[in-house]
Amino acid sequence: MAEDGTLRGMRVLVTGGTGSIGRAMCRAFAREGADLAFTWNRREAEAGALAAELQGRGVRALHGRVGATDGPAIQAFCERVETELGALDALVNNLGGTQVLPFALIDEPDWDETLALNLKSMFLFSKAVVRGMIRRKAGVILNLGSLAGRRMLEVPVHYATAKAGVTGFTISLAKELARYGIRVLELTPGLIQGGIGDNVSERQLAEYNRYCALGRPGTAEEVAELAAFLISPRAGYMNAVSVQLDGGL
Ligand SMILES: NC(=O)c1ccc[n+]([C@@H]2O[C@H](COP(=O)([O-])OP(=O)(O)OC[C@H]3O[C@@H](n4cnc5c(N)ncnc54)[C@H](OP(=O)(O)O)[C@@H]3O)[C@@H](O)[C@H]2O)c1
Repeated sequence: MAEDGTLRGMRVLVTGGTGSIGRAMCRAFAREGADLAFTWNRREAEAGALAAELQGRGVRALHGRVGATDGPAIQAFCERVETELGALDALVNNLGGTQVLPFALIDEPDWDETLALNLKSMFLFSKAVVRGMIRRKAGVILNLGSLAGRRMLEVPVHYATAKAGVTGFTISLAKELARYGIRVLELTPGLIQGGIGDNVSERQLAEYNRYCALGRPGTAEEVAELAAFLISPRAGYMNAVSVQLDGGL
């Protein structure tokens, strides 16, 4: 790992690298010199273009289509990453999403799907990399939460429930893994432009801007800068916390 505190020489796996925030994180981590692996679901062409862009910046980048809740595929991808890239220093559990539905229209399959997409994926990816981190007595797991899981906001209830679960997952895992020197953190964005942030209506955006001290949504690049810091050695004493990035609410 680099003595200057950057990500140079680190190997980082980002889930959902083709998404708005995932893409920005891959770019920020590559700028700091990390080799990258990332997953995607539907956007194959974007994945190829992103990998080529990252490689053009002089870092290694590999990617794969991996279903969020496909345990065997997740295991196989993580093994491939460690064989081709080397031992992972950090996992960023970023993939996620939601349907936009009022509570009365959420059916049982919607509930199961949304909790699995946002939470089970986090369990499966973390489990696939944690044994190596335990053996090496080093590593960072950064989980993407959401203000939706913390504040009374107009958001789908199944999504808010899943994101509240990210906090419990983070603090309990942090407690268990601390003895191995592994840090586990949550990054909790408010409304971010692009990606699932585009689901909000004009009225919801205006309301957010009214209550946000900075009067605007954040950008994927602002999330990525914080993520780069949190997984870096510069944040070596940060553990088991949720860092909120919301412009002041
Ligand atoms: N944007 C916001 O306002 C905001 C605010 C708070 C928290 N967050 C959190 O930040 C994270 C990223 O959000 P985003 O706005 O960047 O979302 P996004 O642009 O929609 O990206 C979602 C990513 O997850 C992948 N994905 C979706 N469904 C999947 C599945 N079934 N299997 C495997 N991969 C799947 C997508 O792959 P493909 O693109 O290849 O299909 C994509 O890479 C999420 O955890 C979200 O909850 C976002």
